[in-house]
Amino acid sequence: MISDKTKGELREITARYPESRSALLPMLHLVQSEEGYVSPEGIEVCAELLDLTAAEVAAVATFYTMYKRRPVGDYHVGVCTNTLCAVMGGDAIFGTLKEHLGVGNDETTEDGKVTLEHVECNAACDYAPVVMVNWEFFDNMTPERARKLVDDLRAGNEVEADRGARICTWRQAERVLAGFPDGRADEGPSAGEASLAGLRLAAERGWSSGAPKPTGDAPPRGDAPNGAASNGATSNGGGGKGQ
Ligand code: FES
Repeated sequence: MISDKTKGELREITARYPESRSALLPMLHLVQSEEGYVSPEGIEVCAELLDLTAAEVAAVATFYTMYKRRPVGDYHVGVCTNTLCAVMGGDAIFGTLKEHLGVGNDETTEDGKVTLEHVECNAACDYAPVVMVNWEFFDNMTPERARKLVDDLRAGNEVEADRGARICTWRQAERVLAGFPDGRADEGPSAGEASLAGLRLAAERGWSSGAPKPTGDAPPRGDAPNGAASNGATSNGGGGKGQ
């Protein structure tokens, strides 16, 4: 049930934005922190506060995969099984956890501790295969390490993310995503060596923004092989759409 305190905080979120409906995404996170998922009541409350229909709120909640329509356990364990992670071991990790936890995709262990889900690319391919717990990264994972990770979580042992804070519960993490900081944003390393390598390379070569400029005879990206500009594509790397 959405408490009066939470309703007050939902109102507080709407006041952060010039257009109140822009507040919907953090509001849904706050609903998840209270209910463990986007509940029917949460949808109704958000709709009422934003002067939207319940169908409009539900459309948003069902579009983004970070919003859950069933209660999540204390720890949401997302195994990336997108192409790169999958071939680097993500499929094996997911299979191991399924068997070890005795649950399928999007299911929660009987003790209510772990919800297992296969997730799409988390923009962390430089550390593939990755696993996320409540959206914190665990890099270069192996089936063995993943098994120990969920065992520690279920046992209540303190667990630190590879590039982030100590792991809190799903509901606590959702509250932070709603814009109510827990004061631990700077805990743990925030970037890893592999991610910083590109930044260092750019600094060494004097690249300040965007892609490096073409040199020599190489045609700009997006140009046809014979040097004539292709249909509508520009030198910033057209993907087929003109500007
Ligand atoms: S494919 Fe897994 S993070 Fe990109």
